[in-house]
Amino acid sequence: MKIIKLNAIDSTNTFLKNMVSKVVVDDFTVVVAKTQTKGRGQMNSEWVVEEGKNLTFSVFSRFSDLDVENHKYLSFCISLSVYEALKELDLPSLSIKWPNDILSGNKKLGGILIENTLKGSKIVSSVVGIGINVNQDSFSKNLPNASSVKKILGKEFNLETLLESILMRLKNYHTILERKEYSLLEEAYLKRLYKKNVPTMFKNSQNILFMGKIIGVSKSGNLQIELENETIQEFGLKEVSF
Ligand code: BTN
Repeated sequence: MKIIKLNAIDSTNTFLKNMVSKVVVDDFTVVVAKTQTKGRGQMNSEWVVEEGKNLTFSVFSRFSDLDVENHKYLSFCISLSVYEALKELDLPSLSIKWPNDILSGNKKLGGILIENTLKGSKIVSSVVGIGINVNQDSFSKNLPNASSVKKILGKEFNLETLLESILMRLKNYHTILERKEYSLLEEAYLKRLYKKNVPTMFKNSQNILFMGKIIGVSKSGNLQIELENETIQEFGLKEVSF
């Protein structure tokens, strides 16, 4: 496994994607940076890090036969890898908030940005970006739900050890994905899903609040919510928040 270590870069995802577009990149090439000047999050958001305190990296991998319609299983693999590595640190009430935020209680510790390359109906490769707030001390007031492993457990953690632990799990899950063990992935993910089967207040894209409970993730990767009238509705990432 090749690990490229950088002090500062705009975004490890952008860097790795550029590299992939120019040269042949080995599977499991990793780019890790102490800081990013233009870190990217889901839905075009910004991902801001405190220099040297957080784990900020991207991984390139290829798939031999992964249908676009099964993209959610790739997302499950990445979330589960990060979840399990953090679980080893004994973080309390750890869960995966759909689609792939990692929470301790209701505090976000990390996020994942998956950028796939498609060929017809297949995902041929992807650049997976992972950001984990490990030793960060302070957070912007605009992010009231963000926290770090250090803030929760009261001590610092070694970034390299955590990186190795996540990479090992990503490799294992890659094998499971290649073997198409999709029901195993579905079961493992749903078991750790934040607010599953818990009555929850949601907000839709028109800012309308409604009650419901998460019952699963649809084939296309949308969140399935059972409403109070017992009908089931699906929501995409831009269509619901909670
Ligand atoms: C999210 O919005 O929750 C996803 C955040 C993903 C951040 C990581 S940090 C490493 C990689 N490089 C980026 O620019 N983004 C991802």
